[in-house]
Amino acid sequence: MTSQPEYITLHDKRFKLFIESNRIQEIAKEVAGRISNDFAGKIPVLIITLKGATNFAVDMMKYLTIDCTIETVRAKSYGSGMVSQGSVLVSQLTGDIKDKDVVIIEDIVDTGLTAKSLIEEFSKLGPKSIKIASFLIKPEMLKTDVVIDYVGFEIPPAFVVGYGLDYAELGRNYPSVYSLAE
Ligand code: XMP
Ligand code: MG
Repeated sequence: MTSQPEYITLHDKRFKLFIESNRIQEIAKEVAGRISNDFAGKIPVLIITLKGATNFAVDMMKYLTIDCTIETVRAKSYGSGMVSQGSVLVSQLTGDIKDKDVVIIEDIVDTGLTAKSLIEEFSKLGPKSIKIASFLIKPEMLKTDVVIDYVGFEIPPAFVVGYGLDYAELGRNYPSVYSLAE
């Protein structure tokens, strides 16, 4: 097993180990299996939402047994704080998705506003289909009726960092997920 610290400090806050890296790898493989089955015979385009979904997208893709293409997009909602602000900016999609089967890769779904905005924006570009995969979801925080097709882990409404997720830009490089320690 990868050795990983029980506690980390980022800026002024302390975080406790919450999801270990080996468990994350198992889930990445599971999600890849489901996507591979559902898209058998197709070549979906994975749209990685920067920056947070990078780690999950890279690990999950390794386990796909189908071909895919990759694009990226920026979706910003939090600024540097820890509370979802409700305003979402979708920008800089890197490629054409017309007539393509799209799988959006998200890091975490909190209120669901970002996921909903992404679906709305991408729908305008004429894709054949759109699905969403999210590494994490906080079901108790959902404020929209958005359906997340592939979920890694359901977590309680704590603020988490690591494995792509940041607190004021720190923490993204950790292989495990950490939650805010009281
Ligand atoms: P919404 O509310 O739009 O939020 O579903 C999704 C986006 O908010 C960020 N987010 C977090 N980032 N730890 C983070 O580092 C968290 O616990 C957290 N919860 C939400 C993230 O950018 C996500 O894409
Ligand atoms: Mg962030």
